[in-house]
Amino acid sequence: MRDYEPYYTEDGSIGLYSYADKDVFHSKYGALTEAWEKFVIPADIDGLNKDNIKVLDICYGIGYNTKALMSFIINKNKKNKKSFLKRIIETLVYYVSIGINKLLKRGICLLRHSGSIDANKILASIDCLELNEELVKLSPLFKTVKTPEEIYYNLVPKFLNCFDTYYSAKNLFVNVMSKFSPRNRKEINELLEIKFKNMHINKEYKIHPYVNYIILNALYEKFDTQYWNKDFKKMVTRGKNRRFFDKTLIKYARFNQICGYNSSHKANLSTFLHNIYYHHLSKRDKNINFKTAESLFKLNFYINDARKSILQLNAQYDLIFLDAFTYTKAPHLWSAEFIAELYKRLSPNGALLTYSNSVLVRNTLLEAGFYVGKIYNEHNNKFIGTIASKDKSKIKHPLDNYELGLCATKAGIPYHDPNLSFDKKDILALREYEFRHSNLMSSSKYMKIRSLNNE
Ligand SMILES: C[S@@+](CC[C@H](N)C(=O)[O-])C[C@H]1O[C@@H](n2cnc3c(N)ncnc32)[C@H](O)[C@@H]1O
Repeated sequence: MRDYEPYYTEDGSIGLYSYADKDVFHSKYGALTEAWEKFVIPADIDGLNKDNIKVLDICYGIGYNTKALMSFIINKNKKNKKSFLKRIIETLVYYVSIGINKLLKRGICLLRHSGSIDANKILASIDCLELNEELVKLSPLFKTVKTPEEIYYNLVPKFLNCFDTYYSAKNLFVNVMSKFSPRNRKEINELLEIKFKNMHINKEYKIHPYVNYIILNALYEKFDTQYWNKDFKKMVTRGKNRRFFDKTLIKYARFNQICGYNSSHKANLSTFLHNIYYHHLSKRDKNINFKTAESLFKLNFYINDARKSILQLNAQYDLIFLDAFTYTKAPHLWSAEFIAELYKRLSPNGALLTYSNSVLVRNTLLEAGFYVGKIYNEHNNKFIGTIASKDKSKIKHPLDNYELGLCATKAGIPYHDPNLSFDKKDILALREYEFRHSNLMSSSKYMKIRSLNNE
């Protein structure tokens, strides 16, 4: 693609490197995994206790945060149709294979789960802000590679996973299949220092197969005949890019464009859609049908500088995802004035989530009036982002005294962007001036003093 270099990330999802910004859009660790672990899981959607949530996705890019959220909601709304007999067999297999103590717990748990039939219905209205129209249009067409582990899980029945041989067979299969997994070009591996050998994704983190179709339909509604054009076609079908895009979705997109607005093709259209629906959609998930899943969402796309878009929006959001480039590259999306606009739009028990751990970002959020805490990842036992809310009870891991002290040093001085219209360079220069003339302690001196005091 023009300015971007797609690459495979460790979970099989595709990341983008932007030559213009000299920055990656997604972590090498896994574009999709990051969306789940930094945004969707810590958002604690169940804790919101609402059946109609409003979400603001700032810097939508190619939409991983929205896609992960949609997948979560579709899965939440599924009917659990596992037969009682199947549950009993699964429970028995556990009884036979693991020690009695553990077994009792597991068995009870399984039987208890067997009672769940219908989850509470959750609807979501998602406003997506993005500067780059091309990325938004491309977003539903990106492929996610099936990792060798997933292929194995599809082949071997789940209830066998209590046997040791299952794991050795799985490892063998994964090692062999990884040789055939798609690979990044050597140059991009060197540029981004990508070192992983095997692709791996947590099973629960997959994008639900309906999601990209729902996004595509929403984009058609917005762009109408402007969705698909010659340049766009060239981009997704050009040799070196082709492998990153999902062929079925491209066919679906192009067919919509050819026939969707031409009544003489109506019969063809319905046959084609019917085929797509039955071949690619309906069989994929017996617990929820496509139309029901689509009706759970209202997606709006705002293609503009997020500083302008935000002023057009007056809703109260339950969740705000802030996924801008780092603050040195996009200071305008971390400024005190922009964060103040977000504060106004966050509902009283809502949460703002961001991947950034920086002192500057945390202090800007504190000064805006938020309670601020850390996002904890139990898989690697690390703090991987920041959560802000007007409701103190939403903050499970508040900043400690040391971190609060750090926020009060020069490192915490926020960016300013009066009228939300300053040029990036001016915003950086303004802070630089404030930094130089500030009487606050420097962060390095603060850290030195605290370490001398053994704190
Ligand atoms: C780190 S990437 C976000 C990745 C994205 N969440 C995803 O899942 O693909 C940052 C995004 O911010 C967008 N962006 C940059 N400046 C912007 C602005 N002023 N307003 C809105 N979006 C902007 C870029 O085009 C890029 O897509």
